[in-house]
Amino acid sequence: MSDNSAFANTSYQDQVVIVTGAASGIGRSAAQLIAARRAKVICADLNQPGLDEVVATITSAGNYAESALLDISNQSAIKDFISSSASKHKRIDALINCAGYPGPTGKFVEDIDWDDYQKVISVNLFGAIWLTQYVLPIMKKQKYGRIVQVASIAGKEGNPKMAPYNTAKSGLIGFVKGVAKEVATDGITINSLAPAVIATPINVNTAKETLDYMISKIPAGRLGEPIEVAEMIAFMGSKACSFTTGFTFDISGGRATY
Ligand SMILES: NC(=O)c1ccc[n+]([C@@H]2O[C@H](COP(=O)([O-])OP(=O)(O)OC[C@H]3O[C@@H](n4cnc5c(N)ncnc54)[C@H](O)[C@@H]3O)[C@@H](O)[C@H]2O)c1
Repeated sequence: MSDNSAFANTSYQDQVVIVTGAASGIGRSAAQLIAARRAKVICADLNQPGLDEVVATITSAGNYAESALLDISNQSAIKDFISSSASKHKRIDALINCAGYPGPTGKFVEDIDWDDYQKVISVNLFGAIWLTQYVLPIMKKQKYGRIVQVASIAGKEGNPKMAPYNTAKSGLIGFVKGVAKEVATDGITINSLAPAVIATPINVNTAKETLDYMISKIPAGRLGEPIEVAEMIAFMGSKACSFTTGFTFDISGGRATY
């Protein structure tokens, strides 16, 4: 393989990529990086002002982005969104699912309101499943696809007093492992990613006790930056990620070395 063709595998030229959670944090950084690598990026989120901002940033840099208002806890809205994106662009090369939220933190499992518990599962797990279900038939027809699910270190190790989030993210890791084997001969890879604490707005409402616990567990002694996560996502979502599937990539500053 020549150097040029190796480089081409990390380029997104002529590709269409959906990024959920693109209005903020990790998703926003991933959308910007992948657009800079020449993809047409469809930025989906429930935060319209955040979407407007990220699309303006990407287009003013001379790259392509469009926005879609989407709540990933709404199954029929996901179905419509995937179908209209595929009709418009004729293909979907990668799905990068970064939308998520932590839900209750600093609470013992028995004190968590069931509605709150279910909502965390709906967004962080059901949303991820529905996106995958609706995008896979399109990718199978193309005989090509990359799916990246942003899970969490919480799904690998479990953080105390974050039971709904731990449940959803570990469910997501298991989901990815099995689906990967179903599509392994279809030109499709699906992987997840387990960040430790990354400096994004998601942590603003996390109980101090919980946040201090998570930070104290990071041997690197600092928070991760969204661009560090975006770099790994950009690899996972590209043609270059062709022989790794069903895996949970680590980005935890040394907390999880497995
Ligand atoms: N930042 C961290 O420390 C960290 C650590 C581990 C995992 N994660 C995961 O990374 C992903 C991105 O988080 P982030 O840190 O960038 O947070 P963030 O809050 O900056 O961004 C999350 C985005 O998801 C969107 N979102 C939330 N619920 C949604 C829904 N129902 N439908 C559509 N969009 C929705 C929000 O509007 C927001 O724009 C999440 O899945 C999160 O669980 C983050």
